[in-house]
Amino acid sequence: MLVAMHTLLTGGAGFIGAATTRALVRAGHTVTVLDSLREDVHPSGTTPDLPDGARLARADVRDLGAVTSALEGADAVVHLAAKVGLGVNIDDIDDYVSSNDLGTAVLLRAAATARMPHVVFASSMVVYGEGRYECAGPGSGEHGVVGPGPRRIEDLDARIFDPRCPRCDTVLVPGLVAEDAPLDPRNVYAATKVHGEHLLGAWSRETGASATAVRFHNVYGPGMPRDTPYAGVASLFRSELAHSRAPRVFEDGAQRRDFVHVDDVAAAVVRAAESPAGPGVTPLNVGSGTVTSVGEMARVLADVMDGPEPVVTGQYRAGDVRHVTASSERAAQVLGWRAQVPLRAGLEELVRSGA
Ligand SMILES: NC(=O)c1ccc[n+]([C@@H]2O[C@H](COP(=O)([O-])OP(=O)(O)OC[C@H]3O[C@@H](n4cnc5c(N)ncnc54)[C@H](O)[C@@H]3O)[C@@H](O)[C@H]2O)c1
Ligand SMILES: [Zn+2]
Repeated sequence: MLVAMHTLLTGGAGFIGAATTRALVRAGHTVTVLDSLREDVHPSGTTPDLPDGARLARADVRDLGAVTSALEGADAVVHLAAKVGLGVNIDDIDDYVSSNDLGTAVLLRAAATARMPHVVFASSMVVYGEGRYECAGPGSGEHGVVGPGPRRIEDLDARIFDPRCPRCDTVLVPGLVAEDAPLDPRNVYAATKVHGEHLLGAWSRETGASATAVRFHNVYGPGMPRDTPYAGVASLFRSELAHSRAPRVFEDGAQRRDFVHVDDVAAAVVRAAESPAGPGVTPLNVGSGTVTSVGEMARVLADVMDGPEPVVTGQYRAGDVRHVTASSERAAQVLGWRAQVPLRAGLEELVRSGA
């Protein structure tokens, strides 16, 4: 029987935060949600409905005084507050760094003063850049696991979308990325997630407290934001299908992703909050454990919505990540958690929710 905790949950009014608040309360814990209700995420400005057992402190995570009072009586911190979004515009660079890097720093400072024993930090699959690849040629297993070279325009035009081995030029075979893979953040948002993990490491070394970095993969489900680097594609396809238009799938549709339902993510976060792993940062992939191609996801969604078959266009953006799918085995071992929601059932629920 687990002891009831009081958790400070930053970003608890957001997409993953709302599901996490519900899951924490269902597990018997009480929650203080600290959220600034950013206007771009909450345009209506209305206060979110919180379940009994949760209360809202409307404040910015960069406000040391507000964070310090919100921490009173807390046994654990879950830090989800961040500027998410696509980060396509370099004008946003200071907002990302301020919201995410400075926000994490202020929170960790307050957590150290409060002698907080455990912090869970929302990291992301974007810390990896590309997923894991193996070179299997010219002799079998030739160069083993390698970092992929950049994709060439001639290849993309010839519809060769998989990257090549930087040593022998053979087209690589994708695999599952584990937590010890090298980090390769490719945009400002991703850089803030890597930096957040590093700050967490420094905080844990200084304080001797426990830290878990949960690296979420493509989270989808009711209430999902429409313009994230994650499940944005599911949202986009859904809008097309809602207008009886065929979803348009880039490349050959074989890009591999790991779509994980928000309720599964919330369950993993609850387990992570309940399970301090000792000093140092424990990074954990949080994915469904099932590889799905973007084309397959589009087909299932079209079927669920009774819409036209997807069209594979061969269009590409050279900088797109080709494959990134997780091994979530470590989370299974450390947290005793596994994703439960199958993709089709999850997409049916997403469509029903209309969110
Ligand atoms: N959605 C995904 O697929 C995904 C994948 C990997 C990682 N993540 C991470 O999970 C976390 C939650 O993401 P989400 O999809 O729920 O995003 P979201 O935008 O729906 O939620 C973020 C919440 O944080 C709040 N917030 C932002 N800046 C704040 C600040 N400075 N002070 C206080 N509150 C602030 C916002 O008002 C919002 O309610 C983020 O850290 C994100 O980077 C999300
Ligand atoms: Zn090779």
